[in-house]
Amino acid sequence: MKFQDLFHQPPDAIASAPGRVNLLGEHTDYNDGFVLPTAIPQTTTVQLGISNNHHYHFYSENLDEYISLDDLNSIPSDFASYLFGCISLIQQKGYTIPPLNISVQSTVPIGSGLSSSAALEVACLRGLRELFHLNIDDVEIAQIAQQAEIQYAGVQCGIMDQMASSLADTDHLLFLDTRTLERQVLPFPVGGEIVVIDSGVPRSLASSGYNQRRAECEAAAKLLNVTALRDITDPEQVETLPEPLRRRARHVVTENNRVLEVRSGVSLLRFGELMNDSHTSLRDDYEVSVPALDRLVEILQQTPDVFGARLTGAGFGGACVALVVAGQARTIAEQTLEQYNCIGFQGKILIPDTEIKES
Ligand code: GLA
Repeated sequence: MKFQDLFHQPPDAIASAPGRVNLLGEHTDYNDGFVLPTAIPQTTTVQLGISNNHHYHFYSENLDEYISLDDLNSIPSDFASYLFGCISLIQQKGYTIPPLNISVQSTVPIGSGLSSSAALEVACLRGLRELFHLNIDDVEIAQIAQQAEIQYAGVQCGIMDQMASSLADTDHLLFLDTRTLERQVLPFPVGGEIVVIDSGVPRSLASSGYNQRRAECEAAAKLLNVTALRDITDPEQVETLPEPLRRRARHVVTENNRVLEVRSGVSLLRFGELMNDSHTSLRDDYEVSVPALDRLVEILQQTPDVFGARLTGAGFGGACVALVVAGQARTIAEQTLEQYNCIGFQGKILIPDTEIKES
C-alpha cells in the first residue's frame, strides 16, 4: 500500500540505503580487523512523515505488516524494532523527534546475509537526518545503526554492515579497518564481476552461533594477552591456544592477512584464490559453514571463468559470493543454480539481480 493511501498525506522525506556483500574479511570486524565489502544494487527505501495523531505508525510493504505505537516505551518486534531503535537513539542524542509515520519498501533479500537490517537502519537514519536537519555524518549514521542493531534487535554485531551500507557504492570495494574506521575506496577489480547465490538454507543458528564465536575470539585474545585478535599477525602465535580457540583465532589472523594482501593489489586470479582459502578457513577453522553452502561453493569453484567463491556474511546458511570473469556472471549464476537445485536444494540467484530490468 502506498504512503499516501495509508496516511492520507504525502511523505515529508524519502531516503534509501543499499544492502552489502562482503568479498573478504569475514568474522573479523568484531575482532578489530579488516573487511572488504561492496554495496549491492538492491536497496531499502524509507518514507517518513510527521504523524498527526501523536502515535507512531510503521508499515512494511514487503511484509504487509502495520504496527502502531502510543510511545517509545516498549520495543516492538521484527522490522519495527530497527526503526524504533534508530528513532530512540537519535532522541537520546538530544534531538526532539515527534511521532512519525514510516513506510518501508525493500529489494534487499532478507535472511541471506546481505544486510537487509543495516540497509533499513541506514535508510531510516538518512531519512531522519533529512527531515530534521540532524548534524550527523555518514560514519555516525553507521555507528548509530550498529547500536540500534545491538541494543534494540539484540544482535552483537560488528560495524561492517552498517559502514558498508552507509559508505560503500556498487562500483568499488570498501576496505575498512574496523578498529580505527580508516577506510579506502578501492576500484572494483578490472575484468571481474560478482555472482551472489542464496543457498536456500535459512540462517537458523546464526545468532546463537555468532555470539558463541564472538565469545571464543574474546577468550582467545585474553589468553594471548592482546586487546583483540587483530593484534596478532603471525598465525604461528595462535598455535599454543587450546581447541577450539586455536582454530577460531587462526581463521581471524589468516583472514585479516588475506584482506591486507588484496588491499596491497593482487591479480584477479590471486583474489579468487584468497576467497577460496577464506571459505576453507570459515568451514574448517571457524565452523560457520553448512553442507549446502559447501556444495554451492564447490560447484562455483569448479566452474570455468570463476576466480574464487566463498560463503558471505555470518554463515550458518545464507548466500555465497563468487568473483567471475566480467560478462559471464549471468551465465555462470544460471548454470550453477541449475546444478545446485537439481540435487534437491532451492537456491536463488541474488546477483546479477534479475528483478532489476536492464535497459
Ligand atoms: C554479520 C555481522 C557483521 C559481521 C559478519 C561476519 O553480518 O552483522 O558485523 O560480523 O556477520 O563477518
